Amino acid sequence: MKVFSANLDNLRKLYINQLQMLLSTEQQITEALPKMIEKSSDTQLKQAFQSHLQETEMHVQRLEQILNQAAGDAKPVKCKVMAALAIEGEDAVKDAADDAVRDAALISAGQRVEHYEIAVYGAVRRWAQLLGETSHVELLDKTIKEEGHADHLLTEIADRVNPYAQKAA
Ligand SMILES: [Fe+2]
Ligand SMILES: [Fe+2]
Repeated sequence: MKVFSANLDNLRKLYINQLQMLLSTEQQITEALPKMIEKSSDTQLKQAFQSHLQETEMHVQRLEQILNQAAGDAKPVKCKVMAALAIEGEDAVKDAADDAVRDAALISAGQRVEHYEIAVYGAVRRWAQLLGETSHVELLDKTIKEEGHADHLLTEIADRVNPYAQKAA
């Protein structure tokens, strides 16, 4: 439910609004990843989440830098999608009664988040180009590459973990 209108009447306002939402997305991910690391059984999966947590902290910093420059401050606007993805991920992990099945659930939850991030960052980077914010484009590009890398790494780990999940019980 929306309490008030953000009154987005030009592309720059939409751009800033979506950056503020991304800041909330990334902040929520820095809270979710430590729980995902703790629940992972596979060592490589744990390491992948751990290194993406470090990258995510950098994603927060980059967004703060862009927002400070574009809007004068870096305030988040709550991302409801990430809140829902986090709840769904936690539910799937809670319901998994086998280590490999739980890892498979964690990977799937993680990849949903990466794909969501890539979709939002892709649109925002395009707007940054149109608005002539070349320094923002560079920063957003670095983040998108790291999200892509995290997603591909999770696919590789899934290929190894899924057969164990298939053999469970
Ligand atoms: Fe991120
Ligand atoms: Fe990510």
